[in-house]
Amino acid sequence: MLADKRILLVISGGIAAFRALELIRRLREQGATVTPVLTKAAEEFVTPLSVSALAASKVYRDLFDLTDEAEMGHIELSRSADLILVAPATANIMAKMAQGLCDDLATTLLLATDTPVMIAPAMNVRMWDHPATQANLVTLQDRGVQLVGPDAGAMACGEYGPGRLAEVPAIVDAVISHFAAGPLAGKRIIVTSGPTHEPIDPVRYIANRSSGAQGAAIAAALRDLGADVEFVTGPADVPPPAGVAVHSVQTAQQMLDAVQSLLPSDAAVCAAAVADWRVKGASDQKIKKDGSGTLPVLEFAENPDILATISQGKLRPGLVVGFAAETQDVMAHATAKRDRKGCDWIVANDVSPETGIMGGTQNTVTIIDDQGAESWPDLPKAEVARRLARRIADALA
Ligand code: C5P
Repeated sequence: MLADKRILLVISGGIAAFRALELIRRLREQGATVTPVLTKAAEEFVTPLSVSALAASKVYRDLFDLTDEAEMGHIELSRSADLILVAPATANIMAKMAQGLCDDLATTLLLATDTPVMIAPAMNVRMWDHPATQANLVTLQDRGVQLVGPDAGAMACGEYGPGRLAEVPAIVDAVISHFAAGPLAGKRIIVTSGPTHEPIDPVRYIANRSSGAQGAAIAAALRDLGADVEFVTGPADVPPPAGVAVHSVQTAQQMLDAVQSLLPSDAAVCAAAVADWRVKGASDQKIKKDGSGTLPVLEFAENPDILATISQGKLRPGLVVGFAAETQDVMAHATAKRDRKGCDWIVANDVSPETGIMGGTQNTVTIIDDQGAESWPDLPKAEVARRLARRIADALA
C-alpha cells in the first residue's frame, strides 16, 4: 500500500528507538523506501549497522559528513522524501522542532523541509504531560505536523500513563492513511465528548468526572481513517485532537443544539457524559451566604437526552453509537439502554471507582448491537478508539 513512497525516517534517541527496527521492516513490507537518519543519542540505542541492514539503505548521521554533502546535500535529502516520519520522537526533538533549532542533521532536515512531517512521540509520562512538551505539541500541530500516539500504558522506566510509542502497526496505519484516502474519506461523523457543566449560579456548577479522554481518542481515530469529524465537546481535561472541527459547549442543552445544527451526518458517536439534570431556574447572580443559616435548595429539571433525540429524530444519522457507563449489572442496563434510546450500538463499560476507567488511561468495553454482544479485552483508550473507528468504517462501507 506504500509502493513508490519514500519515507525519511528520523530516529531520535529514546529507549523506544529499538522499535524503529520493526517499523522499518513493516514500512518496507508495504512497499515503502525507507531512508534512515539517526540522531547521536539514537546511536546509543540502535546501531547504524542494524538500521542500515533493515532499511537496505545508507544511514545518514552527521551534518558535516562531506561525502554525503557531495552526494546529496541536506536540503536535497530533506526534500527527496514523500513523508518525514520522526519515530520515536523524544521530548528533546519535539522541543527543537518547535523552536526551529537545527544543531544536527535530523533537526536541520526538519527545518529545511517542505515535506509533510509526522511524529510518533515516546517519552516518560511526566515529560509528556509537562506543559512545555504539551505547548510544543500544540505549536507543531498548528504547523501541520501529524501526530500518531503516544499510547498509554506501562513504560520502560516503571511508570504508567501516556508516553509510550504507538504500536508499530498503528504507526504504519497512520502512514498509510496519510497517503491513502482512508475508508472514512467523505464521511461526516459527529462525536460528543467530555462532561457538561450545569450552572447553579454564575460561579458554581454541577459536573461529573469525565475527562473526555475516550471521546478525544475516538475523534482522532476517526480522523485518521479519513472522516470529517465534528467534535462537540464539553469542558474536558483532555485537549481536542488536531484536524477535527471543534464545537465547544458547556451545558447539555448547548450540546444538543450544536449536534442538531450539525445534522445530517453519516454517523454520530455520543461519548459525552452528559449531565442528566440541570438546576431549574439557575440564579443569574451569585447565591449569597446571608448568615441566617438558611440553606439554598436546588430544584432540578431533566436535561434533553441527545443520544435518544438524534436516534429517534427525522435527521437520524445512518449509524448512531451510544455509551453506557454503568456501575452495576452492566450488560442488562446497557442492553435496555440501547432499546430505550434507539441507537444502533452501545459501548458498555463498568465505571465503578475500583476499575479506574473514569479519568484513567485504560478501558474495558463490550459492544452491544442487534447481533448481540462483543467483549474486548482491557485496552488503552487509544486502542479502543482505533478498533471502534475500524468497526464504524466497516459498518459504513
Ligand atoms: O442514560 P445514560 O446517561 O447512561 O446514557 C449514556 C449515553 O447517552 C451516552 O452515549 C451519552 O453520551 C448519551 N447521553 C446523551 N444525552 C444525555 C444523557 C446521555 O446523549 N442527556
